[in-house]
Amino acid sequence: MAKHPMGSPTFHSQKKKRWLLLLLAMLSISTAVAFIITAAYDSSCYPAVGGPLLLMELAFLLRGVGAEVCWITVQKPLGKDEVIYSLENKMLDRGVQVLSAKGKDSMDTAIKADLIVLNTAVSGKWLDAVLNKDVPRVLPKVLWWIHEMRGHYFRLDYVKHLPMVAGSMIDSFVTAEYWKNRTQERLKIRMPKTHIVHLGNSKELMDVAENSVAKRVLREHVRESLGVRNEDILFAAINSVSRGKGQDLFLRSFYESLQLVQEKKLKVPSIHAVIIGSDMSVQTKFETELRDFVAQKKIQHRIHFVNKTLTVAPYLAAIDVLVQNSQGRGECFGRITIKAMAFQLPVLGTSAGGTAEIVVNGSTGFLHPAGKQGVSPLARNMVKLATHVERRLTMGKRGYERVKQMFMEHHMADRIVNVLKEVLHKSTLR
Ligand SMILES: *[C@@H]1O[C@H](CO)[C@@H](O)[C@H](O)[C@H]1NC(C)=O
Ligand SMILES: *[C@@H]1O[C@H](CO)[C@@H](O)[C@H](O)[C@H]1NC(C)=O
Ligand SMILES: *[C@@H]1O[C@H](CO)[C@@H](O)[C@H](O)[C@H]1NC(C)=O
Repeated sequence: MAKHPMGSPTFHSQKKKRWLLLLLAMLSISTAVAFIITAAYDSSCYPAVGGPLLLMELAFLLRGVGAEVCWITVQKPLGKDEVIYSLENKMLDRGVQVLSAKGKDSMDTAIKADLIVLNTAVSGKWLDAVLNKDVPRVLPKVLWWIHEMRGHYFRLDYVKHLPMVAGSMIDSFVTAEYWKNRTQERLKIRMPKTHIVHLGNSKELMDVAENSVAKRVLREHVRESLGVRNEDILFAAINSVSRGKGQDLFLRSFYESLQLVQEKKLKVPSIHAVIIGSDMSVQTKFETELRDFVAQKKIQHRIHFVNKTLTVAPYLAAIDVLVQNSQGRGECFGRITIKAMAFQLPVLGTSAGGTAEIVVNGSTGFLHPAGKQGVSPLARNMVKLATHVERRLTMGKRGYERVKQMFMEHHMADRIVNVLKEVLHKSTLR
């Protein structure tokens, strides 16, 4: 992470006293589990782990410019969830205080803070539960960071305070538009001033993506572990496995692309697909369906399943094309897309949600419709990229250039600085 990514002098001098920032990481174990259970029925763009990771990155950016930062979680389930546990330890290492939302400390901190970043729509429930009568005092300094786009969250008990907060940050234009519509039409409430903040790639990720030696080593290692040769073409879907993320339709497209190659007698290298994000312990039915399809079509030697992981860089180094097949309204943003582009990979994505704001159709990849009508277009796009090596590589390079132009951490930091300036200015004028 860059040392002073937000160190603009105006940002510093605007507030004389050191300002205390309170971050609420509401994504506790219970909400993560609730998400996984419901994800099977509903298209989802809730980042089960992405949420707290992103918040952590923001916390570190703010620490980097001398802010006091405090991280409040709904529960402190230390030791229960390894991911959350290791995040909390990272916070403590970097001087971020970690508090449980239940204690009196968190209430006092909220009242003293200059700014509160409320992370995810679900965390709205916390406000009343913890702050009770103090809610109105706190609302004018709340910046609400929303990463969700599912009907499930359009409930008054989550978001009734939205109109009174200082502002909201949303990951893509299409998601912001959706929230505006839904809050007005369903709940009859108005969104506060909304800022679109497209996300960016961390320096750590870029370091690997730009290191050709590391990439080659990782590529060889991962391909060997999967049983995929260097000259084979490897497509990947990297998303938690669920119907909303469209791995079932991706497999159908994959099968159709094999048929196309055969029918047209095309000369292409052997094609493979890897599905990264399996979790047999929770998604048994859907996971089983995917494996049944693979067995029935006899493509076991070409389809590889990999468990959920936070370490995606080795896979990005190993694959040739990312498939972002999120269904319904698509991803709110879909950070994996910009990560893949950093690795100079073309992206074949559904023309939905944030994906359509990241991928330039025909230039950095191809877009196909969500739903069953997207199966054949995706299959044709896969064949296109498998047969035209030059085109594939050029699209990857253009994707990389696009990332360097607009989806780097410093771009995101600049966007957030502007939002914070405005919100802090507003809240000190009160
Ligand atoms: C929002 O509503 C307008 C008008 O009702 C509609 O045209 C637009 O497509 C809607 N946008 C979304 C994202 O639902
Ligand atoms: C993947 O996860 C399943 C259970 O969810 C586990 O049984 C299996 O050993 C894991 N595989 C690897 C390679 O870690
Ligand atoms: C993407 O571009 C191709 C042509 O390159 C076009 O056929 C297709 O309709 C476009 N898709 C979308 C979603 O714009």
